[in-house]
Amino acid sequence: MKESTAHPIGIFDSGIGGLTVAARITRDFPEESIIYYGDTAHLPYGDKSEELIIHYCRKISEFLLEKGCKIIVIACNTASSVAYDELNKSYGKQAHFVNVVDPAVTGIASMKEVTEIGIIGTQRTISSGSYSSRLQILRPDIKVHSLATPLLAPMIEAGFYNNNISEAVIETYLSDSSLQSIQALILACTHYPLIKKQINDYYREKVKVFDSTDFISNEVGMLLANQHQRSAMKKSNNHFYVSDLTESFEKTTRLFFG
Ligand code: DGL
Repeated sequence: MKESTAHPIGIFDSGIGGLTVAARITRDFPEESIIYYGDTAHLPYGDKSEELIIHYCRKISEFLLEKGCKIIVIACNTASSVAYDELNKSYGKQAHFVNVVDPAVTGIASMKEVTEIGIIGTQRTISSGSYSSRLQILRPDIKVHSLATPLLAPMIEAGFYNNNISEAVIETYLSDSSLQSIQALILACTHYPLIKKQINDYYREKVKVFDSTDFISNEVGMLLANQHQRSAMKKSNNHFYVSDLTESFEKTTRLFFG
């Protein structure tokens, strides 16, 4: 197990989505250094087979382990849903793996006032049942309505957020009959915080909207404290890697990290 406090936190996603998680972690733990990996050559993950997603995630994990990461955050709901168990089994002795599904499920389950919830995510996240099955165990009284929204991640990745096109796509999905009686909505894809404002505008505060960044710091903070792994460095040193350099990755990384 990596014990040295100078080791970075590895964070990965299929593309820019995980930057929303990375931005939250660096905001809440400014002394920690991160290594971010965006697998832009292979996105979207959401329509790929489980085998292929696991294969990509293994390669990225091995890369991040070589870089000495003490914690690896799977900042992708799709990868968290289908690859977390495999990664943890194969590499869990070398670093702590954190997925984005469990902290969100635990957080939502503790909200007693929520009894009817919507979940939107990629085809693979929704078909895996990762959220609904875990929520059913912790809160059998919650009614869960899951909807795959496969256009959203590629749309965001192509730079379409906060404009008319994204507004029309968001409206089309959220007006689906399955989501009409919900009190809360989970954005089960790390790309979606980039359109959270538009989703909130659509609901006009009638529905509470949550995403992976709302729950991740608790988990990472506990891990850093429990394992005495907090960085002793004064200044963080962040690195970003991509499997294919895209304009949208550069633009979004600048947006979050200057
Ligand atoms: N950001 C990702 C997620 O949270 C994946 C989007 C994709 O590549 O399809 O699921």
